[in-house]
Amino acid sequence: MVPVIAIDGPGGSGKGTVARLIAQKFGWHLLDSGALYRLVALAGLRHGLAANDVDGHARLAAALDVTFEVDAQGEERVMLAESEVTRELRGEQTGEAASRVAAWPEVRSGLLGRQRAFARAPGLVADGRDMGSIVFCDAGLKVFLTASPQDRARRRYKQLKGKGLSVNLAALSAEIAERDRRDTTRFVAPLIAVPDAIVVDSTALSIEDVVGRVISLARERFPGLTRQI
Ligand code: C5P
Repeated sequence: MVPVIAIDGPGGSGKGTVARLIAQKFGWHLLDSGALYRLVALAGLRHGLAANDVDGHARLAAALDVTFEVDAQGEERVMLAESEVTRELRGEQTGEAASRVAAWPEVRSGLLGRQRAFARAPGLVADGRDMGSIVFCDAGLKVFLTASPQDRARRRYKQLKGKGLSVNLAALSAEIAERDRRDTTRFVAPLIAVPDAIVVDSTALSIEDVVGRVISLARERFPGLTRQI
């Protein structure tokens, strides 16, 4: 069985960065599942779907025409059909739209097979909201990464600024709070720490500390596979 590290948590907890660094360190595949929900929301806008068109969004989810590329500078580029959406994908508005379409079971099941197909040798690091609870419920290591809401808003702010996007900290905090509320209270696949997940609160930790902690957990869980790293 392919080893899987599932990293779940709310927005701004640092899980995307941590997952990417661990995948690089181990040479494993990486699944940024949030990007898929963001892409469904963007595809919906591009196709002119009404915001409440569940079936339309579910059809787009099942047939998402997306390519993840890395350019010559090592920067990720995301293509939706023929057009580049890298920048638009990361905007807070897209995150907000993603969290609305992600509440529909039809959209979630449309993305399930695509997400599971990422589990290929030598291993997978998957980040999202339901990696440990649903998509990879038998993952060998499940981490639930969290941080205080203020800290998460500050991190997201820095991250978005760093990407050249215009943001306002107060508006961002309110959006994060609303997204948390929607993600934790939705009927399907709510954001929860499953009982077998290890909860890591990153509020007082640096990214390097968190990565170090997850790597030592991975070494315990997958001794044969990570010994050489
Ligand atoms: O992590 P990211 O901010 O990219 O996720 C955008 C939205 O997609 C989240 O707010 C959440 O509603 C949804 N999502 C989800 N399940 C996942 C990953 C993301 O519902 N596994």
